[in-house]
Amino acid sequence: EGNKLWGGRFTGAVDPIMEKFNASIHYDKRMWKADIEGSMAYVKALEKANLVTADEREDIYEGLEKVRHEWEAGTFELRPGDEDIHTANERRLKEIIGAVGGKLHTGRSRNDQVATDMRLWFKDAAKILCDHISDLLKVMVTRAEQEIDVLMPGYTHLQRAQPIRWSHWILSYASMLQRDIGRLEQIKDRANTLVLGSGALAGNPFNIDREFLRQELHFDKISSNSLDAVSDRDFVVEFLFWASLLGVHLSRWAEDLILYTSKEFGFVTLSDAYSTGSSLMPQKKNSDSLELIRGRAGRLYGNCTAFTIAMKGIPSTYNKDLQEDKEAMFDSFDTLNAILQVATGVLSTLKIHPDKMKGALSPDMLATDIAYYLVRKGLPFREAHGMAGLCVALAEKQGIPVSQLSHKDFQSVSSKFEDDVVKVWDYSNSVEQYVAQGGTAKESVQNQILSLRAWLEGK
Ligand code: ARG
Repeated sequence: EGNKLWGGRFTGAVDPIMEKFNASIHYDKRMWKADIEGSMAYVKALEKANLVTADEREDIYEGLEKVRHEWEAGTFELRPGDEDIHTANERRLKEIIGAVGGKLHTGRSRNDQVATDMRLWFKDAAKILCDHISDLLKVMVTRAEQEIDVLMPGYTHLQRAQPIRWSHWILSYASMLQRDIGRLEQIKDRANTLVLGSGALAGNPFNIDREFLRQELHFDKISSNSLDAVSDRDFVVEFLFWASLLGVHLSRWAEDLILYTSKEFGFVTLSDAYSTGSSLMPQKKNSDSLELIRGRAGRLYGNCTAFTIAMKGIPSTYNKDLQEDKEAMFDSFDTLNAILQVATGVLSTLKIHPDKMKGALSPDMLATDIAYYLVRKGLPFREAHGMAGLCVALAEKQGIPVSQLSHKDFQSVSSKFEDDVVKVWDYSNSVEQYVAQGGTAKESVQNQILSLRAWLEGK
């Protein structure tokens, strides 16, 4: 009971169920480092404001070093009354250096403290995720470069649409991930704000030098309103949504690959390192890695939804509801931390089967090209589209691929068809039409590779 930070006005004991309900230590202890860093900066600011002497500052600082060392060594012992990481660290500090430890919290509240810790923690976490995404992007760009000549069917509505380059498919996901990195950087910029020095809500009454705190803790800017500062969790909500959207991108990527690993497609083979077997059917090789990536997108949205709704209706400034921010944030981080590394492993060990991909192309996927052929002979596209459709129907009626229609058949649809129509039946020629920026022609895909490489080098 003795170590309650707020014990003074209380006489009755807390119901043990309430004690457990209230505690966040079992998950917020992972912010121990940020909590100590924040306190180290704060004690220096207290000295600057003449609230502790140089000796006291040194005692507190050294005490904090010892607490840090215990966490690092794994010897920090939690006590039953340790409600959260802030309570635990301060309790231990006072055990080590005695009553002078009680000066550390002068003018500070757990409200500005926890908000500071979370922002410090988040900045490191964002960096880790960014690096994992970059690793995945590097594998994507390398494969895209090496396998640029591999052709495959492109799909819309999951129906064969037009031939594309396999690399073009890979890079479509790289584009999404690039935007994800950009979005995370913006969120990080907004989170990069010093909130320490806001007190419980009204501000700091002791002439604390917040510019000094900002520099010590490497924040970009200083929060401008203490009421907002102690309860601003926008960056958490933004992060949770960001994580959900990244989860969706990776889920779609996983879904494509799951389809491509099936016997019916047979485009790729997943490495054994990322597959599992069946306890019943000996022939099975399942894409569990990809299925879990797909499945966990749901969990990411769950965290986002849970905390966004928790925020709604919280009155001004700090309320304990805000404690719900941490499990959501940590879980989304842990989930993505795992997903991204597994995704990188999957892609870097994936075997592709170019013959299967090419074999899945069929002349009907060139129906658009027949229309383009007629456009190049001067017909308006709408007319050309109709005639190409007639060719497809004619072939279907005869039970042959459209490429096998006779010259006479083509002539019966339009006199514009000449002998050179045979050039249409070449898949490589087909993809090479799409030279406009962003298209699937070799040159265009090479440009995508070049700009992604340059972008990654700037990271
Ligand atoms: N564990 C708390 C949290 O995560 C710390 C802040 C507590 N502040 C308070 N006034 N009870 O939100």
